[in-house]
Amino acid sequence: MVIFSVCLEDISFFTELVYSTTRVFSFRVTAEEIPEIESSASQLMDYTERLASARRAAPRDDFLSTYLVAADQAGEMSPLEILIQFLFVIVAGSDTTRGALAVQTAQLLQHREQWEAVCRVSRLVPGAVAEALRFEPSLASVSRFVLEDIELDGYVLNAGHFMTLSTMAAMRDEKVFEAPDTFDIFRTDRQRWHLVFGGGAHRCLGEALAKTELEEGLAALTARIPPRRAAGNPGTRLGTSRWRHARALVDR
Ligand code: HEM
Repeated sequence: MVIFSVCLEDISFFTELVYSTTRVFSFRVTAEEIPEIESSASQLMDYTERLASARRAAPRDDFLSTYLVAADQAGEMSPLEILIQFLFVIVAGSDTTRGALAVQTAQLLQHREQWEAVCRVSRLVPGAVAEALRFEPSLASVSRFVLEDIELDGYVLNAGHFMTLSTMAAMRDEKVFEAPDTFDIFRTDRQRWHLVFGGGAHRCLGEALAKTELEEGLAALTARIPPRRAAGNPGTRLGTSRWRHARALVDR
């Protein structure tokens, strides 16, 4: 089954809208930015509606067609909820992985000996991807509602409150990771369940796809263009709240 069968020109269209819409998750979002963010979100919604209508009229062997049939038959969601769920797959599945590929490349190129090690030994690829996601994660936090009062380290998290939990900080916890501020693809204290994908019932739906894309991407880059060097700024991520945007990576 094809996961997405969108036209190539769609990708740059919705990538820009996703980039703009996800600014709403930043602690630093300003009132002036809200109209533009709302406009991007509503264009994304229109796009999703058009795509869903097209697949209902002419189903294909792809994820969206299968999802729509299953959701319609189950009858558990309203038409709007069916669209929002799919819209979220587009939002959650584009900039997170796209930026991660740029940032993992940038991190490795800045640690040249580790880049060269991956070029020589392809089985180092999964460790390199995991370390880049720990060191410069695509998302900085997960959110939860507190269902009952919870005591934690002398504080009480009150029932009904909305919480943002910093997975970015947790992935630099010196009690868990040795030398947490060091980028090291050889580290042996990697976690079985990478925290960058959250946890529990709402753990990232696209984890396996994201890892595959990042691992295949890195394997292709290191196999095809091993002598690459980064030019200009080192391609880092910005932000510490939720969605972390990537600075452009320039190569030479
Ligand atoms: C490097 C890439 C990615 C990272 C770091 C990432 C991270 C996350 C995180 C932290 C969450 C919240 C988990 C929680 O609340 O416990 C999440 C949720 C989600 N992700 Fe990803 N994600 C990535 C790629 C993708 C891709 C490629 C897709 C789909 C194509 C995707 C679809 C989703 C969806 C649908 C949810 C909501 C799950 C739910 O609420 O039940 N993600 N992701």
